[in-house]
Amino acid sequence: MNQPVMTGVAALNVPAYIKHQKLIDWVAEVAALTRPARIYWCDGSQEEYDRLCGEMVAAGTMKKLNQELRPNSYLACSDPTDVARVEDRTFICSKTKEEAGPTNNWMAPAEMRTTLNGLFDGCMAGRTLYVVPFSMGPLGSPIAHIGVELSDSPYVAVNMRIMTRMGKAVYDVLGSDGDFVPAIHTVGAPLAEGQQDVAWPCNATKYIVHFPETREIWSYGSGYGGNALLGKKCFALRIASNMGFQEAQSGQGAGWLAEHMLILGVESPEGKKHYVAAAFPSACGKTNFAMLIPPASFNGWKVTTIGDDIAWIKPGADGRLYAINPEAGYFGVAPGTNTKTNSNCMACLGENTIFTNVALTDEGDVWWEGLTKEAPAHLIDWQGKDWTPASGTKAAHPNARFTVAATQNPVIDQAWDDPAGVPISAFIFGGRRSTTVPLVTEARNWVEGVYMAATMGSETTAAAAGQMGVVRRDPFAMLPFIGYNMSDYFQHWLNLGQKVGAQAPKIYCVNWFRTDAEGKFVWPGFGDNMRVLKWMLERIDGQAGGVENVFGVTPEFKDLNWDGLNFTQEQFQQITSIDKAAWTEELTLHAELFEKLAYHLPQELVATKAEIEKRLAN
Ligand code: OXD
Ligand code: MN
Repeated sequence: MNQPVMTGVAALNVPAYIKHQKLIDWVAEVAALTRPARIYWCDGSQEEYDRLCGEMVAAGTMKKLNQELRPNSYLACSDPTDVARVEDRTFICSKTKEEAGPTNNWMAPAEMRTTLNGLFDGCMAGRTLYVVPFSMGPLGSPIAHIGVELSDSPYVAVNMRIMTRMGKAVYDVLGSDGDFVPAIHTVGAPLAEGQQDVAWPCNATKYIVHFPETREIWSYGSGYGGNALLGKKCFALRIASNMGFQEAQSGQGAGWLAEHMLILGVESPEGKKHYVAAAFPSACGKTNFAMLIPPASFNGWKVTTIGDDIAWIKPGADGRLYAINPEAGYFGVAPGTNTKTNSNCMACLGENTIFTNVALTDEGDVWWEGLTKEAPAHLIDWQGKDWTPASGTKAAHPNARFTVAATQNPVIDQAWDDPAGVPISAFIFGGRRSTTVPLVTEARNWVEGVYMAATMGSETTAAAAGQMGVVRRDPFAMLPFIGYNMSDYFQHWLNLGQKVGAQAPKIYCVNWFRTDAEGKFVWPGFGDNMRVLKWMLERIDGQAGGVENVFGVTPEFKDLNWDGLNFTQEQFQQITSIDKAAWTEELTLHAELFEKLAYHLPQELVATKAEIEKRLAN
């Protein structure tokens, strides 16, 4: 690469409506370090969005899709080396290694700052620094928090407009001295004078860094997803989980939770409504579950979406736990999404959508594996190459995504934007396990539920770079997202449960992914998950049966509604059976996890494990 020409500091050009001197000083300081050619303050308007998209089309970063087939929509294709979150390059730089815990990469803050100062020196040369103000949660809500991302990627600016409440109104909330989380992002590809840009600039060196004490985020080298849209995983999970914990630690309040959870509403035909929050590892169908369409036989049942990925949860004045979705859009996995698996989602994607790394049809529309039974005869694949069904490669990257506003969801819950949040009746935790873990289990109590969530395992997917399909322990589906020590996090959950007491939501563990001898999924999943959801709600209301086993309470065949589905008792047995040998083996893996997390590991969890072992031995 050519040596970048070090430009002088670009003019700040602060809009008159910004009164926050600390923010202005910070932008000036970052500009002095990164030396962009221009500074642009995003106002979040439609006009600005259209203009930036137009500029990216001209630059070759995005293609405008056929206006008739997919109005106001774009396709961006990334560099093939920049397609997923980079967990091995993600750091929690707390003061001590113990505070980050054994599940996070850690470096001493001073050392990391030296590294970053070197990397960020002149990193935006030739580019525009976009100042992106955003609110996680409804503007002005007591549960919401504000961030400002400084990024040299226009792709980030337009995606942030969809994914968050982004724009001018944020400055009204910030006023002259409001708190905000400063987030700095660069693709790490400075341009020398006259140097031609590439369609998707990025750098082989990547750092996604969090400083929890100062609540800062620094991201270098990637333009993709959670690496670059810093409101999502970096702020709404890693920094926010730490904030919620610190609030309790400092004695300033009960503390709160930032969770990798969808939130949905379920209303019975009688009009009784519950909200549940569900944690699944990445690419386990959270968006599908959040927009679930009940089977036809469930006449009158309605499922509505609050959020599909992240929940911020706090005790309310009435002692119950209330949740908001801090995001304003969906950054969902495209492959596998179709009118059968998620027709509500397909309805979201009809217009005003940014697609990333899907394939382009000859008509100028998009396609991905699973969208239609038969692939089109010809496509341009996500790497810009001609593709036919005979190519033997995937036309869309397995982690290809769509970015779309939550307001386009036909089943958006009427309370999705309510600053007070919605009361949670149940927490659901689900991994992707082909064996061992039953379809559904109810924890006997809060501590057992925390144990289930803490020991959750899942087969890995394409959402993160690395090996696919191996079981890794993914406590609370938070392994890549927890901003502090995992054992302290378990304790925080136990403490909060104790505070909420009798009002605590019930906790369930589910597994939609058990397979038969041929490796085929036994459970139909998708809309039929409603059958499991209904059982849970009936349990909450004290109306459904279940039997105790080594690991909580499971339904019997008769306890689920089977109307309209041909599912035999044998099949049910296949996905709910508890194999003692498999569970004995499973517990050795729990023991391994507990060994790794021994520092500050709550004794209640060790005791719960002993109880399971005792039951297994009987
Ligand atoms: C996501 C993820 O993008 O979990 O939501 O990877
Ligand atoms: Mn996620």
